[in-house]
Amino acid sequence: MDRYAVIGNPVAHSKSPQIHAAFARATGQELTYERLLAPLGGFAEVAAQFARDGGLGLNVTVPFKLDALAIADKASERAHAAGACNTLKRDGEEWYADNTDGAGIIRDLTFNLGVPIRHRDVLVLGAGGAARGIMLPLLHEEPRSITIANRTMVKADALVERFSAQGPVASVELSELAGMDFDVVINATSAGLSGDVTLPWPAGLFRPGSFAYDMVYGDAPTAFLRWARAGGAARWADGLGMLVEQAAESFVLWRGVRPDTRPVFALLRPGR
Ligand code: ATR
Repeated sequence: MDRYAVIGNPVAHSKSPQIHAAFARATGQELTYERLLAPLGGFAEVAAQFARDGGLGLNVTVPFKLDALAIADKASERAHAAGACNTLKRDGEEWYADNTDGAGIIRDLTFNLGVPIRHRDVLVLGAGGAARGIMLPLLHEEPRSITIANRTMVKADALVERFSAQGPVASVELSELAGMDFDVVINATSAGLSGDVTLPWPAGLFRPGSFAYDMVYGDAPTAFLRWARAGGAARWADGLGMLVEQAAESFVLWRGVRPDTRPVFALLRPGR
């Protein structure tokens, strides 16, 4: 049977095996999909052994997305732009690296949630790997503007430098956000994840009709989404849809078939 896996550390919590098993069932593809725990510093070796054992593809999660790009023989433009790889595909004796995270969030926003990016003013909170990964796919949607706001200004400026040739991207200090407002606000930070209650952004960011998207997800509404709702966002979603859609994009790369994601939402979060 064709073999796939998600590799990470930790990896026990990953929903990817459940998602890909559902895709395989629905599309009639015969494959196995397992979890691979790699020791820190041991990514390349575990990936190489998986390939020797006949493995055809890997989803890559924390903390190995940079290592995955480093071991690849070839990489897509979107993996280069993201500076990270979440999907590896075996191509003969080589690894091909891709990154489907950005395509996943765009598909969730524009297709599942009906939130257009085109001609909209978008605010990206954060300037780490998660923010970098969505820049090129967001720009391809032709927003009116993308504003990046990050606690550490030099990281926001570096993203502007990297992507400004591709579209209207600017950085602002967190303090400069006061008085600005947006159509779509995307949280790409880890602020609030460890239970801290005060989030670092000013009130008033949400225009009437605006949408708040958190790239992380949880069983309960995230701290960012609670804050966004209280701050006037008209609609919101967490990153579960991005998770499912990035998995679907990986499945397309591996199998050449696009699975219907709707039944998988029903499986992971009945009533979404
Ligand atoms: P990831 O790959 O998930 O993006 P990362 O590269 O560590 O992880 O980036 C985390 C992001 O969350 C950064 O933008 C970080 O801000 P700094 O660049 O200033 O560190 C942001 N972040 C984390 N905790 C935060 C907090 N309490 N307040 C504001 N921003 C925070």
